[in-house]
Amino acid sequence: MSEVAAAGTVADVGDGPKPVRIGLLGRGNVGAAFAELLDARAEAVLAATGRKPELVGVLTRSEGDFAEILEGSDLIVELMGGTDPAREYVAAAMRAGRPVVTANKQLLAQHGDELFGIARESGVQLRFEAAVAAVIPVVRTIQEGFATADIERVYGIVNGTTNFILSEMAASGAGYDDVLARAQELGYAEADPTDDVSGADAAAKMAILARLAFHTPVTLSEVSYEGIESITPDDLAFAKELGLSLKLLGVAERRGEAISVRVFPCFLYSAHPLAPIEGAFNAVMIQGPAFNEVTLSGPGAGGLQTASAVLGDVVSILAGEAPVHETRTDLPILADVPSSFYLHLEVADRPGVLATIATVLGDNQVSVKSVVQRGIGDDARLVMVLHECLESRFARAVEALNELGELRGPARSIHVIEERS
Ligand SMILES: NC(=O)c1ccc[n+]([C@@H]2O[C@H](COP(=O)([O-])OP(=O)(O)OC[C@H]3O[C@@H](n4cnc5c(N)ncnc54)[C@H](OP(=O)(O)O)[C@@H]3O)[C@@H](O)[C@H]2O)c1
Repeated sequence: MSEVAAAGTVADVGDGPKPVRIGLLGRGNVGAAFAELLDARAEAVLAATGRKPELVGVLTRSEGDFAEILEGSDLIVELMGGTDPAREYVAAAMRAGRPVVTANKQLLAQHGDELFGIARESGVQLRFEAAVAAVIPVVRTIQEGFATADIERVYGIVNGTTNFILSEMAASGAGYDDVLARAQELGYAEADPTDDVSGADAAAKMAILARLAFHTPVTLSEVSYEGIESITPDDLAFAKELGLSLKLLGVAERRGEAISVRVFPCFLYSAHPLAPIEGAFNAVMIQGPAFNEVTLSGPGAGGLQTASAVLGDVVSILAGEAPVHETRTDLPILADVPSSFYLHLEVADRPGVLATIATVLGDNQVSVKSVVQRGIGDDARLVMVLHECLESRFARAVEALNELGELRGPARSIHVIEERS
């Protein structure tokens, strides 16, 4: 039997504190930083929990044996990434009575139901603060601080790479490809940035946050997402003129007896609490009637930052704090919700164009809040902010606009939050 007792409390260890034996799966960016931090902070962990941590085994592709590490450890830290074989190892560790700490968003976003189920059945803790926004304690805040609160919405910037790219594009006026290349040089973007720039990484994090906030099963495949690949310097220049800033937002919100969980680029009014979050930072807002609004922000990635959140989870387990994630309900997830949009049209410069476009929008019950006309001849454009309408209705209007002979290129649209909701 593991010396970290089944419910996650500190075991009876007889005379004096026995070390807690930690098995580490993965020693990459985060795993290596965690091993160092564990060593450096071992005395602090002892002072806080009465147990001194000791790294007893490490698994990588070239070293270690999972079965041996599991046998010799009291607690498993999974920092391998991916779903296979992480899923099998995490499940086996919990079934063997070991609490698990992981930073693996993909694992929880895709196999959360199964793994939380095993944690409950086995009476062990599964902790995962670092899986969302690294060191920012958003999981802890939702799971513990707001355990019984009525949460209406959780939303924010949960991907630092895309926030860095959008901030740089806005500041320099450079195009997406140039800024992405610079982000790769600086180490803010991976050699293959697809997961980040497509919104898929943010979608996995939002699946986890939605599950926690609304106590309902949510998997990655149910989260709709849109990335930043087609954002142009033009969009950002117009946004600046309109006093808006552009962020990739993850939004999980309650809509009556259902929820909606989505990721999309979005213009924000300048006084919005997320508007000043620049560079590779993350920020998450939690809203509910009893507490109004809480915003947490900080570095959302990095080996040491992520490792420090992992160590925080280890300490919580040793200290015997035991939040249990359980689904209390099974809320439907809506695909079609009302949103406001910015619409950018490159139009033919001839009389009656504005009237034709207004008619198409009107026919689809989409109404215009504000419109700016710019340029002449081959540079004529209309930039509009529209009133909130169902996204399906807006999509039909855009389809109809694209069929008109009046446009010189496809219509571009981006979500917009113009005012405090
Ligand atoms: N990096 C960040 O800033 C950050 C932030 C938040 C969360 N996370 C999460 O933290 C986790 C680790 O990320 P990372 O950046 O540290 O990854 P990484 O640098 O790629 O390291 C992965 C480690 O896992 C090992 N590994 C991978 N597959 C394995 C397998 N099949 N069998 C045995 N060992 C295997 C690798 O072994 P080798 O050394 O032999 O290749 C390596 O040591 C991921 O879930 C990631 O999403 C990372």
